[in-house]
Amino acid sequence: MAKLISEEQMKVQKDFIMKLLEENNNFAVKNGRQRLALTETYGCQQNENDTERIRGMLKKAGFGFTEDQNEADVIIYNTCAVRENAEQKVFGRLGILKHMKEQRPGVVIGLCGCMVQQPHITEKIRKIHPQVNLIFGTHELYRMPELLYAAMHRRKAVVSIEPSDGAIAEDIPVLHAEAQKAWVSVMYGCNNFCTYCIVPYVRGRERSREPEAVLNEVRELVAGGCTEISLLGQNVNSYGKDLDREIDFSDLIRMVNDVPGVKRIRFMTSHPKDLSDKLIYAIRDCDKVCRQLHLPFQAGSDRVLKEMNRRYTKEQYLEKIEKVKREVPGISLSTDVIVGFPTETAEDFKETLDVIRKVEFDNIFSFIYSRREGTPAAKLDFVLSEEEIHRNFDELLKVQNEISKRKNDAYVGRTEEILVDGISKTDKNMLSGRCDSSKIVNFAGDESLVGKYVKVRITESRTWSLNGELAE
Ligand code: SAH
Ligand code: SF4
Ligand code: F3S
Repeated sequence: MAKLISEEQMKVQKDFIMKLLEENNNFAVKNGRQRLALTETYGCQQNENDTERIRGMLKKAGFGFTEDQNEADVIIYNTCAVRENAEQKVFGRLGILKHMKEQRPGVVIGLCGCMVQQPHITEKIRKIHPQVNLIFGTHELYRMPELLYAAMHRRKAVVSIEPSDGAIAEDIPVLHAEAQKAWVSVMYGCNNFCTYCIVPYVRGRERSREPEAVLNEVRELVAGGCTEISLLGQNVNSYGKDLDREIDFSDLIRMVNDVPGVKRIRFMTSHPKDLSDKLIYAIRDCDKVCRQLHLPFQAGSDRVLKEMNRRYTKEQYLEKIEKVKREVPGISLSTDVIVGFPTETAEDFKETLDVIRKVEFDNIFSFIYSRREGTPAAKLDFVLSEEEIHRNFDELLKVQNEISKRKNDAYVGRTEEILVDGISKTDKNMLSGRCDSSKIVNFAGDESLVGKYVKVRITESRTWSLNGELAE
């Protein structure tokens, strides 16, 4: 059995939610307005998913929501530590909040997530940003009601960043950002320790949810009108290894595929070393699994891959990709790439470009290496200058943009089924949604189509999106 946070502990949190609710109701009667909370999320889908739980708990506790920090009574930033710029953004925001807190000392300013799970960062925040009165780490999310209650009643800051004891909290209230599609965590943490990466340090060891817990969440989502389910984990292919029964990720996918009402299944992220044939066959055989795979390769040079502790070679990666393409023709591929790993040379970078050219990904997420304190790679010296690294980064984008455009061009004339997300971000007169392979499609249509599946004929391709018109 997955180790769970005890029922008593979850009951304690429920009681704090009720206490907060009572206080918030009294506040509303006295002040003629509801107490408001603001949440902001940095980082990956895991954090987005956690924020939905934070908002779920806040809602149950009687808070309303605002996006205007000047009218918020509680401000919570859910932070990311994966690269330095993610942390700098939060430090920048804290500077602004310092002034606000001087004028409105009653505001509760809270930080949670991966960044504050690093003790040296939390120490720094406490020293230079004493206006922050609530800090809780990734493993303390379920305790937010108790910690928030304490922060609202104490002058001293409430800080709790205990490391994980491996227990999973089930049944935290959740407020989903979108009705038609949702992320469902299947596992937490990471055991891979890629030498550049902070995630294993701030998210703890891998732990899987019981399949019943995952399936119950999926069924609840479907009952609420959700049709697209994205299964989430740092390395979904490790799913089930820590459970005391025979089950792996492809088994779980097949179970979700059998849930009536689910129309689309996506998942993220798979580690190339663990991408099993079984999973490839599940993508091929399950009618609801989208023809799409995100498979980060990070670097093309075998020496760099070794220093990154990725545990596969360029050749092995390319072989897996070939197999995927063979079994699931037309599958859409994406990846993550790091440019400028400390020991990366000009020759090494050519190997990265070679993978990009050979695989022909539909799109890539590329990052310039960022030094993370406490990781093994932080001790390595750089070979290339900053300028050379930036030049390589630009070259990578140039090569990929041509490929992305070519891949998108191939969609022109096709009719695709689109799940409509909402008004297009780039053109307010258009709707926007995603096709099976996850490409963004913009088209003219009535807002009543949001949340529905429609057929769209693709008329035009761009580098990062497609345009089309309703086919029916
Ligand atoms: N578990 C997922 C996601 C990890 S974080 C995976 O393994 O793919 C998302 C991406 O951030 C990584 O794939 C990697 O490309 C990038 N990343 C992680 N640490 C980084 C660092 N120190 N500097 C730059 N990019 C980094
Ligand atoms: Fe980080 Fe590697 Fe784990 Fe991904 S697999 S989260 S890159 S350590
Ligand atoms: Fe995600 Fe950033 Fe944490 S990428 S797991 S929010 S360090």
